[in-house]
Amino acid sequence: MNIKMIAVLAIILGVSYAAWTLFTGPSSAGEEATNINIPEFSQIAQSGQIAFEENCAACHGINAAGTETGPTFLHAFYKVGHHGDGAFTNAAKNGVRAHHWPFGDMPPVEGITDAEIRWITKYVRELQAANGY
Ligand code: HEC
Repeated sequence: MNIKMIAVLAIILGVSYAAWTLFTGPSSAGEEATNINIPEFSQIAQSGQIAFEENCAACHGINAAGTETGPTFLHAFYKVGHHGDGAFTNAAKNGVRAHHWPFGDMPPVEGITDAEIRWITKYVRELQAANGY
C-alpha cells in the first residue's frame, strides 16, 4: 500500500467517523445539554448532586444532560406526572428495562442507599423545575 492510498483511507475513516458521531452522538440524548439552567439547590439537593455525580452521571450526564449511555432527565418523559418519585427508587434498586430509548437496559445501582435516592430525586426535581419540566 502506498502513501496515497493510506491518505485516502485516512480521509474516508475521518469522514465516516464524523458522520457517525453526528448521527449517534450525545446530541440525540441531551439536546438541552448546551443551555441548562442551574438553580440554587436546596441543602438536600446539594447532597443529591454529589450522589448523582457518583452513581448516575456516568450514564445520565452531568446536570442530568444525558450521555451516549443514558437519557437526560430534562425531558417531558420524566416530569413528575409521568415518572413519579417512586420511579427513581425503583430504577436505582431494580434497574430499568429499555422502553423509552435505544440505550439498552439500566442495571441496578449497587450499594445505593434509600437516603441517597431521596436526595438524588430532590436534586433532579429542582433541576427539572428550573428548566420547565
Ligand atoms: C449504566 C448506565 C446507567 C446508570 C449508571 C444509571 N442509569 Fe438510569 N437509566 C439508564 C438508561 C439507559 C435508562 C433508560 C431506559 C429506557 O427507558 O429506555 C435509564 C432510566 C432511568 C429512569 C427512568 C425509569 C423509568 O421508569 O422509565 C430513572 C428514574 C433512572 N434511570 C434513574 C437513575 C438513577 C437515580 C441513577 C443513579 C443512582 C441511574 N439512573 C443510573 C442508564 C443508567
